[in-house]
Amino acid sequence: MYTHLEQRGMPEPPVNISTLRKMKRAGEPIACLTAYDASYAALVDAARTDLVLVGDSLGMVIQGHDTTVPVTVDDIIYHSRVVARGLHRAFLVADMPFMSYTEPAQALDNAVRLMQEGGAMMVKLEGGDGQIEIVEHLARHDIPVCAHLGLKPQSVHKIGGFKVQGREPDQVEEMRQSAERLQNAGADLVLLECIPNEAGRLIRDALEVPVIGIGAGPDVDGQILVLYDILDITQGRTPRFVRNFQAECTSPLAAVTSYVRAVKDRSYPATEHCFS
Ligand code: KIV
Repeated sequence: MYTHLEQRGMPEPPVNISTLRKMKRAGEPIACLTAYDASYAALVDAARTDLVLVGDSLGMVIQGHDTTVPVTVDDIIYHSRVVARGLHRAFLVADMPFMSYTEPAQALDNAVRLMQEGGAMMVKLEGGDGQIEIVEHLARHDIPVCAHLGLKPQSVHKIGGFKVQGREPDQVEEMRQSAERLQNAGADLVLLECIPNEAGRLIRDALEVPVIGIGAGPDVDGQILVLYDILDITQGRTPRFVRNFQAECTSPLAAVTSYVRAVKDRSYPATEHCFS
């Protein structure tokens, strides 16, 4: 009865939440990427990416906005549904967009839509202590949650730009405590964006759940990047933590495979991709 979840016609079982926990315990880096359509999803899956995020970064890289703020729940559902069709092995996470989780009941309705209509296996939301009640409510309904801390792009207009977070010891301590509270509230995964290496290490060590970083240094349980950044499709200035994997490769599949290998052998991120 349960074999379809384990096999889906593949020679090995797809990645699930237990796989990710086991990888953390075994010290095996988790390789993650964003994807927005079925063709790239299939390619990223073939390269053995463990986790694929339908991120609200699609507002910038697909829709051409300057921020992620205009992205809607319907946008994420559309992209998640098409990405799900391209995946066989990777674990699929979908972002909850700006203002889609202001109240527990609204958050639950939207998370259910992302899972039922979008095929997501987990939802990601940005926030610290202000989201504890929401995470508890989702967890109580068995919705797997990833909590996103550090730089929160949906708050860009409040922060005043895309800036490194947690440079002061009291900010790091606050972030560590929030991460622990979110874990205790039921978060199954934590994503840290744009923070110094030391902060990434401290939070990774404090948590039992896997901690994925984007610009959070090498000492976290896994790495994620925006697919179009590693393929050098993104125009203009890219963040310090981005490495262009396409430069040394002859095809997008080779570039993504090279990224996965670099995460697994810990050659990415290198010092030049990190904040101190
Ligand atoms: O939307 C996104 O792409 C993200 C990044 C952290 C990967 O949230």
